[in-house]
Amino acid sequence: MRIIKTKDYQEMSKAAAAILVAQVILKPDSVLGLATGSTPIGTYNQMVEKYEKGEVDFSGISTVNLDEYKGLDKENEQSYYYFMNQHLFDRINVDKDRTHLPNGMALDRQKECEDFERIIQDLGGVDIQVLGIGHNGHIGFNEPASAFEKGTHCVALAKETIEANKRFFDSADDVPKEAYTMGIGTIMKGRKILLIVTGEEKADILAKALWGEITPKVPASILQLHPDVIVVADEAALSKMPK
Ligand code: GLP
Repeated sequence: MRIIKTKDYQEMSKAAAAILVAQVILKPDSVLGLATGSTPIGTYNQMVEKYEKGEVDFSGISTVNLDEYKGLDKENEQSYYYFMNQHLFDRINVDKDRTHLPNGMALDRQKECEDFERIIQDLGGVDIQVLGIGHNGHIGFNEPASAFEKGTHCVALAKETIEANKRFFDSADDVPKEAYTMGIGTIMKGRKILLIVTGEEKADILAKALWGEITPKVPASILQLHPDVIVVADEAALSKMPK
């Protein structure tokens, strides 16, 4: 595991974007695994900036996203589909037909999960997967559980996740109670993982994930077993790193 410690959020975003852009320059038809949440917004802004400066061409890439709320359609401003268009896809020259998220409105959840796994497989797998981390150690929407979930599945969101994500909605009651997410197995198949973390409020869970016991109670702890993980985190997020 490589750890890149940055001064602050802005530097974290720049470093993460540089890694993603380098990936696309090296392999123009890369499959990027993308994430939502507030953490990657700065990274996406930096990618847009590099695109606008003519430093990178995204026309050959494909993307797959980690997760999507169940029950929100694409026009819903809180959907992850909307988020990705707003923060990245509408601002770069990606071919929208090659951007993939689980369909929150799918009628058959089993089929939707299988279809999403097939999309990833047909693309040849993810070259680099961006991850944030939830306060309870979740990655994507893989919540603390008694076992690691393998493939894409539909989950009931943990109470603390609904609490944490209510800031984007009018109230906690409006936060969907379920979501589709890549499984831990799906995420671990990514050839490279880019975990980005910011802020002191994530310091405890980051230390547990990277240096604690590997347990499904801290889903991100599985990353200790991945052969190619880059953690880009700011000083505050790494403040509980063992000496
Ligand atoms: C959400 C997303 C995760 C994300 C996490 C942390 O629940 N499903 O993919 O990593 O929240 O979000 P934030 O970056 O806003 O702290």
